[in-house]
Amino acid sequence: MHVIVLASQKGGAGKTTLAAHIAVAAEAAGDGPVVLIDADPQGSLSAWWNVREAQVPALAPTTIAELPAKLVALAEAGYALAIVDTPPAITEAISAVVRSADFVLIPTRPSPHDLRAVGRTVELVQGAGKPFVFAVTQAKPNARLTVQAVAALSEHGVVAPAIVHDRVDYAGSMIDGRTVQETDQKGRSAAEMAELWKFVKAQMAKSTKARKEGEGAR
Ligand SMILES: Nc1ncnc2c1ncn2[C@@H]1O[C@H](COP(=O)(O)OP(=O)(O)O)[C@@H](O)[C@H]1O
Ligand SMILES: [Mg+2]
Repeated sequence: MHVIVLASQKGGAGKTTLAAHIAVAAEAAGDGPVVLIDADPQGSLSAWWNVREAQVPALAPTTIAELPAKLVALAEAGYALAIVDTPPAITEAISAVVRSADFVLIPTRPSPHDLRAVGRTVELVQGAGKPFVFAVTQAKPNARLTVQAVAALSEHGVVAPAIVHDRVDYAGSMIDGRTVQETDQKGRSAAEMAELWKFVKAQMAKSTKARKEGEGAR
């Protein structure tokens, strides 16, 4: 089982939104079964899941202390992918969650505040030795800010080419427990999510391969 953690010190960066959407995209791409884990005490992801009608992805309740053991149990239960949402902070609890990750996705809005703050999240993830990519979220169409954000983030690491735009359907679809893929399967937001998942999956496979080769060389 692969474990993807969504992390970003900034609140409102889009962690919870992307956790739900990536999970649905992975299921749709045949990369499930997917289980979501809500490690944010605010419980936004769980609240979304609780009003959701569809059976997949699953949601596994846990505490941060129990997370490592829970992940072992979920892998044994046959889940292919676990996606973990985290609170917006830099705390020991988040470091612990990141240590359980195979791969970290760092959502970042293309704003000066968010870009200045991203260094601390990157330090935390790199400190744990985890591979990561940035996803630019809530981008306005044709904004120069987006181009500048991609350039700035590229200095720290890989940026997903699938930019997530600012659209009301991302928030609107989640009101009744759905995602953009489920409210408009053929829409631009759904295409973005499919593309983002494809990229994250490929990057994760790359880093898994590199890690295995590294272990083999030792
Ligand atoms: N791509 C997007 N377009 C429009 N609104 C978005 C988008 N992503 C997130 N939002 C909205 O922005 C707010 C913060 O997103 P959220 O996923 O809760 O961030 P976080 O979990 O990082 O705090 C929410 O109100 C959410 O509905
Ligand atoms: Mg959140």
